[in-house]
Amino acid sequence: MPRPPRVVRTLPALQRAVTRLRRAHQTIALVPTMGALHAGHLALVRLARRRARRVIVSIFVNPTQFAPGEDLASYPRDLGADLAALAGTGADLAWVPTAETMYPAGFATRIVPGGPATVGLEDAFRPHFFAGVATVVAKLFLQCRPDVAIFGEKDYQQLKVVTALARDLDLPLKIVGAPIVRERDGLAMSSRNAYLSTAERSVAPTLQRVLAQCALELAQGADLAATLAGARAAITQAGFVLDYLEARHADTLAPVSSARDGRLRLLVAARLGRTRLIDNVAV
Ligand code: PAJ
Repeated sequence: MPRPPRVVRTLPALQRAVTRLRRAHQTIALVPTMGALHAGHLALVRLARRRARRVIVSIFVNPTQFAPGEDLASYPRDLGADLAALAGTGADLAWVPTAETMYPAGFATRIVPGGPATVGLEDAFRPHFFAGVATVVAKLFLQCRPDVAIFGEKDYQQLKVVTALARDLDLPLKIVGAPIVRERDGLAMSSRNAYLSTAERSVAPTLQRVLAQCALELAQGADLAATLAGARAAITQAGFVLDYLEARHADTLAPVSSARDGRLRLLVAARLGRTRLIDNVAV
Protein backbone atom coordinates (compact mmCIF):
# COMPACT_ATOMS: atom_id res chain seq x y z
CA MET A 1 0.00 0.00 0.00
CA PRO A 2 1.51 3.38 -0.95
CA ARG A 3 1.89 5.65 2.04
CA PRO A 4 -0.09 8.89 2.33
CA PRO A 5 1.92 12.01 3.20
CA ARG A 6 2.49 13.05 6.79
CA VAL A 7 -0.10 15.63 7.84
CA VAL A 8 1.16 18.80 9.52
CA ARG A 9 -1.41 21.15 11.02
CA THR A 10 0.49 23.70 13.09
CA LEU A 11 3.08 26.30 12.15
CA PRO A 12 5.70 25.18 14.72
CA ALA A 13 5.47 21.60 13.45
CA LEU A 14 5.81 22.77 9.84
CA GLN A 15 8.78 24.96 10.69
CA ARG A 16 10.50 22.06 12.48
CA ALA A 17 9.96 19.79 9.48
CA VAL A 18 11.18 22.40 6.96
CA THR A 19 14.23 23.27 9.06
CA ARG A 20 15.13 19.59 9.30
CA LEU A 21 14.89 19.18 5.52
CA ARG A 22 16.93 22.31 4.80
CA ARG A 23 19.64 21.29 7.30
CA ALA A 24 19.87 17.94 5.51
CA HIS A 25 20.27 19.86 2.20
CA GLN A 26 17.11 18.30 0.78
CA THR A 27 15.54 20.36 -1.99
CA ILE A 28 11.86 21.18 -1.44
CA ALA A 29 9.07 21.56 -3.98
CA LEU A 30 5.75 23.11 -2.94
CA VAL A 31 2.39 22.44 -4.61
CA PRO A 32 -0.24 24.87 -3.25
CA THR A 33 -3.83 23.59 -3.52
CA MET A 34 -7.27 24.10 -2.04
CA GLY A 35 -7.86 20.34 -1.83
CA ALA A 36 -10.65 18.42 -3.63
CA LEU A 37 -7.69 16.91 -5.43
CA HIS A 38 -8.09 15.48 -8.92
CA ALA A 39 -5.70 14.15 -11.55
CA GLY A 40 -4.69 17.72 -12.51
CA HIS A 41 -3.40 18.38 -8.98
CA LEU A 42 -1.72 14.97 -8.82
CA ALA A 43 0.16 15.70 -12.07
CA LEU A 44 1.60 18.82 -10.36
CA VAL A 45 2.72 16.66 -7.43
CA ARG A 46 4.45 14.18 -9.74
CA LEU A 47 6.18 17.04 -11.55
CA ALA A 48 7.22 18.47 -8.16
CA ARG A 49 8.78 15.14 -7.23
CA ARG A 50 10.89 15.27 -10.41
CA ARG A 51 12.06 18.78 -9.50
CA ALA A 52 13.02 18.23 -5.84
CA ARG A 53 13.85 15.55 -3.26
CA ARG A 54 10.94 16.47 -0.98
CA VAL A 55 7.42 17.55 -1.85
CA ILE A 56 5.07 19.57 0.32
CA VAL A 57 1.42 19.82 -0.79
CA SER A 58 -0.54 22.55 0.94
CA ILE A 59 -4.28 22.06 1.32
CA PHE A 60 -6.06 25.23 2.37
CA VAL A 61 -9.34 26.70 1.13
CA ASN A 62 -8.18 30.29 1.29
CA PRO A 63 -11.07 32.54 2.42
CA THR A 64 -9.41 35.79 1.28
CA GLN A 65 -9.64 34.86 -2.42
CA PHE A 66 -13.41 34.33 -2.28
CA ALA A 67 -15.82 37.27 -2.43
CA PRO A 68 -19.03 37.28 -0.38
CA GLY A 69 -21.56 35.28 -2.41
CA GLU A 70 -18.91 33.08 -4.04
CA ASP A 71 -18.57 29.37 -3.19
CA LEU A 72 -16.34 29.48 -0.06
CA ALA A 73 -18.91 27.70 2.14
CA SER A 74 -19.80 25.05 -0.45
CA TYR A 75 -16.27 24.49 -1.82
CA PRO A 76 -15.70 20.69 -1.71
CA ARG A 77 -13.63 19.60 1.32
CA ASP A 78 -12.59 15.99 1.98
CA LEU A 79 -9.17 15.69 3.62
CA GLY A 80 -9.39 11.90 3.89
CA ALA A 81 -9.96 11.55 0.14
CA ASP A 82 -7.18 14.07 -0.58
CA LEU A 83 -4.64 12.18 1.55
CA ALA A 84 -5.64 8.88 -0.08
CA ALA A 85 -5.23 10.49 -3.52
CA LEU A 86 -1.75 11.75 -2.56
CA ALA A 87 -0.55 8.30 -1.48
CA GLY A 88 1.95 7.05 -4.04
CA THR A 89 2.40 10.41 -5.80
CA GLY A 90 5.64 11.30 -4.00
CA ALA A 91 4.14 13.88 -1.63
CA ASP A 92 6.04 13.73 1.68
CA LEU A 93 4.11 16.25 3.69
CA ALA A 94 0.60 17.71 3.59
CA TRP A 95 0.48 21.20 5.08
CA VAL A 96 -3.11 21.63 6.28
CA PRO A 97 -3.38 24.85 8.30
CA THR A 98 -6.59 26.20 9.79
CA ALA A 99 -7.92 29.64 8.81
CA GLU A 100 -6.93 30.85 12.31
CA THR A 101 -3.33 29.73 11.73
CA MET A 102 -3.14 31.53 8.39
CA TYR A 103 -5.13 34.59 9.45
CA PRO A 104 -4.93 35.00 13.24
CA ALA A 105 -6.84 37.78 14.98
CA GLY A 106 -5.21 41.11 14.09
CA PHE A 107 -3.94 39.92 10.70
CA ALA A 108 -3.59 43.16 8.73
CA THR A 109 -1.24 42.71 5.75
CA ARG A 110 -2.21 42.18 2.14
CA ILE A 111 -0.14 41.83 -1.00
CA VAL A 112 -1.89 43.63 -3.87
CA PRO A 113 -0.34 42.52 -7.16
CA GLY A 114 -0.27 44.67 -10.30
CA GLY A 115 0.97 43.83 -13.81
CA PRO A 116 -0.64 40.56 -14.93
CA ALA A 117 -3.13 40.83 -12.04
CA THR A 118 -4.70 43.97 -13.54
CA VAL A 119 -5.10 43.15 -17.24
CA GLY A 120 -8.90 42.87 -17.21
CA LEU A 121 -9.42 39.10 -17.28
CA GLU A 122 -10.19 37.27 -13.97
CA ASP A 123 -9.49 40.53 -12.11
CA ALA A 124 -12.40 42.23 -13.89
CA PHE A 125 -14.86 39.62 -12.60
CA ARG A 126 -13.22 38.72 -9.26
CA PRO A 127 -11.61 42.01 -8.10
CA HIS A 128 -10.59 40.63 -4.68
CA PHE A 129 -9.15 37.41 -6.09
CA PHE A 130 -5.49 38.06 -6.87
CA ALA A 131 -4.75 39.95 -3.64
CA GLY A 132 -6.12 36.92 -1.78
CA VAL A 133 -4.03 34.54 -3.89
CA ALA A 134 -0.84 36.65 -3.71
CA THR A 135 -1.10 37.04 0.07
CA VAL A 136 -1.69 33.36 0.80
CA VAL A 137 0.91 32.18 -1.73
CA ALA A 138 3.54 34.55 -0.27
CA LYS A 139 2.76 33.17 3.19
CA LEU A 140 3.00 29.57 1.93
CA PHE A 141 6.37 30.33 0.30
CA LEU A 142 7.75 31.84 3.51
CA GLN A 143 6.36 29.02 5.65
CA CYS A 144 7.57 26.14 3.45
CA ARG A 145 10.76 27.78 2.02
CA PRO A 146 10.62 25.75 -1.22
CA ASP A 147 13.27 25.75 -3.96
CA VAL A 148 10.54 25.35 -6.53
CA ALA A 149 6.78 25.83 -6.57
CA ILE A 150 4.47 24.23 -9.14
CA PHE A 151 1.35 25.95 -10.52
CA GLY A 152 -1.00 24.74 -13.25
CA GLU A 153 -1.54 26.52 -16.56
CA LYS A 154 -5.24 25.83 -15.91
CA ASP A 155 -5.19 29.10 -13.93
CA TYR A 156 -3.00 30.83 -16.50
CA GLN A 157 -3.36 34.38 -15.17
CA GLN A 158 -2.68 33.13 -11.63
CA LEU A 159 0.53 31.45 -12.87
CA LYS A 160 1.68 34.79 -14.33
CA VAL A 161 0.73 36.68 -11.15
CA VAL A 162 2.63 34.26 -8.92
CA THR A 163 5.66 34.34 -11.24
CA ALA A 164 5.72 38.16 -11.02
CA LEU A 165 5.25 38.02 -7.23
CA ALA A 166 8.29 35.74 -6.76
CA ARG A 167 10.39 37.88 -9.11
CA ASP A 168 9.32 41.25 -7.69
CA LEU A 169 9.88 40.22 -4.05
CA ASP A 170 13.22 38.49 -4.84
CA LEU A 171 11.89 35.25 -3.39
CA PRO A 172 14.60 32.60 -3.76
CA LEU A 173 12.53 30.00 -5.59
CA LYS A 174 11.62 29.00 -9.12
CA ILE A 175 8.02 28.99 -10.31
CA VAL A 176 7.26 26.13 -12.68
CA GLY A 177 4.08 25.96 -14.80
CA ALA A 178 2.46 22.60 -15.57
CA PRO A 179 0.21 21.80 -18.56
CA ILE A 180 -3.57 21.51 -18.18
CA VAL A 181 -4.86 18.01 -17.43
CA ARG A 182 -8.17 17.32 -19.18
CA GLU A 183 -10.99 14.79 -19.04
CA ARG A 184 -11.23 12.44 -22.03
CA ASP A 185 -13.76 14.77 -23.68
CA GLY A 186 -11.46 17.78 -23.34
CA LEU A 187 -13.00 19.47 -20.30
CA ALA A 188 -10.23 20.91 -18.12
CA MET A 189 -10.23 19.12 -14.77
CA SER A 190 -11.43 21.34 -11.94
CA SER A 191 -12.68 20.85 -8.40
CA ARG A 192 -15.69 22.95 -9.47
CA ASN A 193 -16.72 20.45 -12.18
CA ALA A 194 -18.39 18.56 -9.32
CA TYR A 195 -21.04 21.33 -9.26
CA LEU A 196 -22.21 20.57 -12.84
CA SER A 197 -25.53 18.78 -13.41
CA THR A 198 -25.54 15.88 -15.88
CA ALA A 199 -26.95 18.13 -18.60
CA GLU A 200 -24.39 20.88 -17.87
CA ARG A 201 -21.56 18.34 -17.78
CA SER A 202 -22.42 17.24 -21.33
CA VAL A 203 -22.29 20.85 -22.57
CA ALA A 204 -19.12 21.81 -20.65
CA PRO A 205 -16.52 20.39 -23.13
CA THR A 206 -17.82 22.87 -25.74
CA LEU A 207 -15.66 25.50 -24.05
CA GLN A 208 -12.45 23.67 -24.91
CA ARG A 209 -13.66 22.65 -28.37
CA VAL A 210 -14.42 26.25 -29.32
CA LEU A 211 -11.07 27.43 -27.91
CA ALA A 212 -9.12 24.78 -29.82
CA GLN A 213 -10.95 25.58 -33.08
CA CYS A 214 -10.37 29.29 -32.54
CA ALA A 215 -6.64 28.73 -31.90
CA LEU A 216 -6.38 26.62 -35.06
CA GLU A 217 -8.04 29.30 -37.20
CA LEU A 218 -5.81 32.04 -35.77
CA ALA A 219 -2.69 29.94 -36.35
CA GLN A 220 -3.80 29.62 -39.99
CA GLY A 221 -3.99 33.40 -40.31
CA ALA A 222 -7.69 34.11 -39.72
CA ASP A 223 -8.73 37.63 -38.74
CA LEU A 224 -8.45 38.06 -34.96
CA ALA A 225 -11.55 40.14 -34.23
CA ALA A 226 -13.85 38.09 -36.51
CA THR A 227 -12.57 34.75 -35.18
CA LEU A 228 -13.03 35.83 -31.56
CA ALA A 229 -16.52 37.13 -32.32
CA GLY A 230 -17.46 33.78 -33.88
CA ALA A 231 -16.07 31.86 -30.89
CA ARG A 232 -17.92 34.09 -28.41
CA ALA A 233 -21.18 33.49 -30.27
CA ALA A 234 -20.61 29.71 -30.33
CA ILE A 235 -20.04 29.62 -26.57
CA THR A 236 -23.12 31.70 -25.83
CA GLN A 237 -25.19 29.59 -28.23
CA ALA A 238 -24.13 26.41 -26.37
CA GLY A 239 -25.82 27.82 -23.25
CA PHE A 240 -22.96 29.53 -21.40
CA VAL A 241 -23.04 33.06 -20.03
CA LEU A 242 -19.70 34.40 -21.20
CA ASP A 243 -17.52 36.47 -18.85
CA TYR A 244 -14.70 36.87 -21.37
CA LEU A 245 -13.00 35.22 -24.31
CA GLU A 246 -9.81 37.05 -25.21
CA ALA A 247 -6.59 36.60 -27.13
CA ARG A 248 -3.69 37.99 -25.13
CA HIS A 249 0.08 38.13 -25.26
CA ALA A 250 1.15 34.77 -23.76
CA ASP A 251 3.71 36.27 -21.36
CA THR A 252 2.39 39.69 -20.36
CA LEU A 253 -1.33 39.03 -20.93
CA ALA A 254 -1.45 42.44 -22.64
CA PRO A 255 -4.15 42.90 -25.30
CA VAL A 256 -3.16 42.19 -28.90
CA SER A 257 -4.62 43.54 -32.10
CA SER A 258 -3.41 40.88 -34.51
CA ALA A 259 -2.43 37.21 -34.44
CA ARG A 260 1.02 38.38 -35.53
CA ASP A 261 1.61 40.34 -32.29
CA GLY A 262 3.85 37.61 -30.80
CA ARG A 263 3.00 34.42 -28.95
CA LEU A 264 -0.71 34.40 -28.10
CA ARG A 265 -2.85 32.68 -25.49
CA LEU A 266 -6.64 32.38 -25.72
CA LEU A 267 -8.34 32.67 -22.34
CA VAL A 268 -11.98 32.09 -21.51
CA ALA A 269 -14.28 32.26 -18.48
CA ALA A 270 -17.96 31.36 -18.75
CA ARG A 271 -20.78 30.34 -16.49
CA LEU A 272 -22.92 27.26 -16.96
CA GLY A 273 -25.85 27.52 -14.57
CA ARG A 274 -24.23 28.38 -11.26
CA THR A 275 -20.80 26.98 -12.13
CA ARG A 276 -18.04 29.23 -13.42
CA LEU A 277 -15.52 27.51 -15.69
CA ILE A 278 -12.20 28.84 -16.98
CA ASP A 279 -9.90 27.46 -19.65
CA ASN A 280 -7.10 28.58 -21.94
CA VAL A 281 -5.04 27.35 -24.87
CA ALA A 282 -1.88 28.37 -26.72
CA VAL A 283 -2.25 29.65 -30.29
P1 PAJ B 1 -6.65 24.98 -6.78
O1 PAJ B 1 -7.78 25.46 -7.61
O2 PAJ B 1 -6.87 23.86 -5.82
O3 PAJ B 1 -5.49 24.60 -7.76
C1 PAJ B 1 -4.23 24.21 -7.26
C2 PAJ B 1 -3.26 24.12 -8.41
O4 PAJ B 1 -3.68 23.09 -9.30
C3 PAJ B 1 -3.20 25.42 -9.24
O5 PAJ B 1 -1.85 25.70 -9.58
C4 PAJ B 1 -4.03 25.06 -10.47
O6 PAJ B 1 -3.66 25.78 -11.63
C5 PAJ B 1 -3.70 23.59 -10.62
N1 PAJ B 1 -4.71 22.88 -11.42
C6 PAJ B 1 -6.05 22.83 -11.17
N2 PAJ B 1 -6.67 22.14 -12.15
C7 PAJ B 1 -5.71 21.76 -13.02
C8 PAJ B 1 -5.71 21.02 -14.25
N3 PAJ B 1 -6.84 20.55 -14.79
N4 PAJ B 1 -4.53 20.83 -14.88
C9 PAJ B 1 -3.37 21.32 -14.36
N5 PAJ B 1 -3.31 22.02 -13.21
C10 PAJ B 1 -4.46 22.24 -12.55
O7 PAJ B 1 -5.35 27.54 -7.58
C11 PAJ B 1 -5.62 27.39 -6.40
O8 PAJ B 1 -6.08 26.19 -5.89
C12 PAJ B 1 -5.46 28.49 -5.38
O9 PAJ B 1 -5.68 29.75 -5.99
C13 PAJ B 1 -4.06 28.49 -4.68
C14 PAJ B 1 -2.93 28.72 -5.67
C15 PAJ B 1 -3.85 27.16 -3.93
C16 PAJ B 1 -4.02 29.65 -3.63
O10 PAJ B 1 -5.02 29.52 -2.69
